[in-house]
Amino acid sequence: MLLHFNAYEQQRIEEFRNHPLLLSFPSLPWAELLAVLLQRRHLSLAIVNVYEWVIDALDREAIRATVRQILHEEFPRNTRGVPLASHREWLYRDLLHLGASREQILTTAESPITREVREGSIQQLQRAFAEGPTDLALITFLRFWAEVLVAVEYECFWPRLSERLSHGTDGTGPKSEFFYYHMIHDRRQSDVGEEQLLGGLTHSQALAQHIGGLILEEQDLASALRQLDAAASLKRRFYDQFLPQPGAAVSRIGRA
Ligand SMILES: [Fe+2]
Repeated sequence: MLLHFNAYEQQRIEEFRNHPLLLSFPSLPWAELLAVLLQRRHLSLAIVNVYEWVIDALDREAIRATVRQILHEEFPRNTRGVPLASHREWLYRDLLHLGASREQILTTAESPITREVREGSIQQLQRAFAEGPTDLALITFLRFWAEVLVAVEYECFWPRLSERLSHGTDGTGPKSEFFYYHMIHDRRQSDVGEEQLLGGLTHSQALAQHIGGLILEEQDLASALRQLDAAASLKRRFYDQFLPQPGAAVSRIGRA
């Protein structure tokens, strides 16, 4: 059954990668590209709520420990326990280095569609909780929505972002703190059930470790596939808002 799950997941990822907005990213003017990233920031701000929601809803302590660990990594501390900049602060700094102004970052309002996607994500977790099998549904949605697809989004962004940000080894331009880090640390990396501890696990893999053992029957598989569909559909909805509307001469970017 894991073969089926993995093949289905790969298929959803390929479809998502081919979203017209993500395909057009390499040729977007910088003003439009920044408008996407500024709107996308509202989903990044929501990720803490999504993680906290899942932590409360989970039954199994071992899974809760993994989810809690990932959430805590969003708030790094130094060796003496002093709080350092959070990952949302890293995002703010990356956006500044990409050319957004403080005013743009701080005053770009959440669009109605972004709000719908953000609220729809919590609603999907509520449905997952109600339908069960709860832990499998919650963790499958969380992993795909907050880790696997996030890394895919940032992979699609990176060829453009790297025009203004480095990944820290080539010495050109300011170093990306947020986008590059999450592109690497969140990514899928291996099929579910094939996680190798050697070399460390990405966030997708750390969550995947708990998924393999929970897909035991057809109804588990069906529930997990529904979570993949729901997460992919919410993400597509977010990017749809930047596409030219039928009959409109200009894209909605900048008016969101
Ligand atoms: Fe992550």
